[in-house]
Amino acid sequence: MHTKRIFPLVLAALGVFALILAGCASQQSSLTGNPARGGQLYDKWWAALGTEEPVGDHPLWATQTTNTRSGLDTWRCKECHGWDYKGADGAYGSGSHFTGFIGVITMDGKDPDEILAILKGSTNPDHDFSSVMDEQALIDLALFLNQSMIDDATIVNADKSPLPNGNANAGKTIFALCSTCHGIQGTAINFDNDSEPEYLGTVASGNPWEFIHKARFGQPGVGIMPAGVTMNRQTQEYIDLLAYVQSLPTESFVTEGGRLYDNWWKAMGMAEPPAGDQPLWATQITNTRTGGDTWRCKECHGWDYKGKDGVYGSGSHLTGFPGLMDARNMSAEELTAWLNGTKNPDHDFSPYFEESQFSMLVAFIQTGIVDRAPYVNDDKSVKGDTAHGESLFNSVCARCHGADGKNINFGDAAEPEFVGTVASDNPWEALHKGSFGQPGTHMPAGLNFGWTLQDIADLIAYLQTLPTK
Ligand code: HEC
Ligand code: HEC
Ligand code: HEC
Ligand code: HEC
Repeated sequence: MHTKRIFPLVLAALGVFALILAGCASQQSSLTGNPARGGQLYDKWWAALGTEEPVGDHPLWATQTTNTRSGLDTWRCKECHGWDYKGADGAYGSGSHFTGFIGVITMDGKDPDEILAILKGSTNPDHDFSSVMDEQALIDLALFLNQSMIDDATIVNADKSPLPNGNANAGKTIFALCSTCHGIQGTAINFDNDSEPEYLGTVASGNPWEFIHKARFGQPGVGIMPAGVTMNRQTQEYIDLLAYVQSLPTESFVTEGGRLYDNWWKAMGMAEPPAGDQPLWATQITNTRTGGDTWRCKECHGWDYKGKDGVYGSGSHLTGFPGLMDARNMSAEELTAWLNGTKNPDHDFSPYFEESQFSMLVAFIQTGIVDRAPYVNDDKSVKGDTAHGESLFNSVCARCHGADGKNINFGDAAEPEFVGTVASDNPWEALHKGSFGQPGTHMPAGLNFGWTLQDIADLIAYLQTLPTK
């Protein structure tokens, strides 16, 4: 009886209350937009927007002298205000990123309209981004600063160690999502080159603040990477994830070595190969290539690692040089002696390699070189389960190469070359690249997904069914 009469009153009261709330909210922000996108813009706005890159240095850059970067970097919000949003009061308070510029964490909860005005130069005309970004992008940034920053001190210690309550086991469960693209150890994609490889473990340990920001907002320009904020991840989950990823390796010698074997100067990010021909090149006359090709391990020792005893035993690639199947049994010292010219002064790569490149090649030769014969038929067809290969291709390769493998053309318009072409013409090359990745690109290494050689053979067997032109 009683409740029946009170009920409408309660409803009415609730309604008034809701109106007041809505009033407050609208007073707080008349702006609508996507703060998560704002987080990506903060990282690298032109990549997130897919717009033209800014030219020269940001006007405010000249007001500092300590950070010696120039050009594009100077236009990133994060370069001046920090991954931890604390500028000179945070991780960028010292080191090569130091500028002395203020942080923006104080914007948390501030009126978005006011923040928007700052981004349009209200406080400093040199801080006007409206000529390089559209209104909605600026609004998204303002909303990000108003509500989506996090105080990283709640996730990581100032010395980069995870907080004591981080649970790496729980982090491992979260990481299962990441591993579909980054590999089971976070090493499938090298974000840098093979002079200084950078994997998820490297970022998490070396720059946890960057790791947290990207885990929350995704990678700008890479629409596929899931953003923690849109999944409503809680602070504890980032603590756990960081604790786990910091335990992952920061190197992957076998796959790095495989890319060096393919094309070491590209893998190492060198602009050009060494000048002239490799000295041993003059000891053969059958292979008429010159320059950069003559410096590639694969050009002399083969995609099947068998040199003159394998596929390069005839045809335009014939040199008569030996393969490396027996070298697999050599010790690290002996292999290094081959690579640094001790065994043969004309086989000296020491002017180009650091200690780590020798270790990569040694690891590759000792464990990465595997006889491909069991996987390839005489007619070059690869023995594999194409249905399984198709699912691997779609899960990892299709995002760049396209569902039909035709998104990237390695040849030219007249003579196109697609993944399907390479797989059909040269399955040994395809098996190598599918295992170790493509030097100088961010193409993932199949082996670092935990794929077996049969898995990779399945994948190449499927590539052989894709269009070749
Ligand atoms: C080249 C360095 C640089 C870049 C890039 C830069 N800022 Fe700033 N920002 C500054 C400096 C310096 C100030 C203080 C300027 C002043 O008021 O004189 C500032 C101030 C601010 C403020 C006001 C902070 C306060 O407490 O008053 C906000 C908000 C801000 N920046 C956001 C951004 C965003 C978002 C981006 C990226 C679109 C960005 N900034 C890019 C250098 C930079
Ligand atoms: C659907 C694929 C995909 C998933 C899933 C994914 N990522 Fe990524 N991630 C990428 C790609 C692609 C890049 C950009 C790599 C490049 O530079 O080529 C990237 C880049 C990154 C970077 C930036 C590294 C740098 O220095 O530039 C971090 C950090 C990162 N991912 C963390 C994660 C975490 C943590 C997860 C899981 C919560 C995750 N990613 C899940 C695809 C993915
Ligand atoms: C220009 C051709 C050429 C290039 C490029 C080349 N090699 Fe060699 N490599 C040779 C020749 C020829 C020999 C045998 C030399 C000798 O007997 O003195 C050899 C020998 C070796 C051996 C010893 C093999 C054995 O069984 O005794 C190893 C290991 C080796 N190379 C690895 C590599 C690696 C790794 C690279 C890339 C960094 C590379 N080579 C690049 C031509 C080349
Ligand atoms: C991040 C994007 C990306 C992904 C993902 C990717 N690739 Fe690639 N791939 C490239 C790029 C870039 C090239 C080099 C194009 C060039 O050199 O012109 C390439 C080249 C290749 C080549 C040979 C090119 C040559 O030099 O002849 C093969 C084979 C290949 N990819 C296979 C694969 C396979 C198999 C997968 C899945 C395991 C894969 N790719 C995933 C970007 C990617």
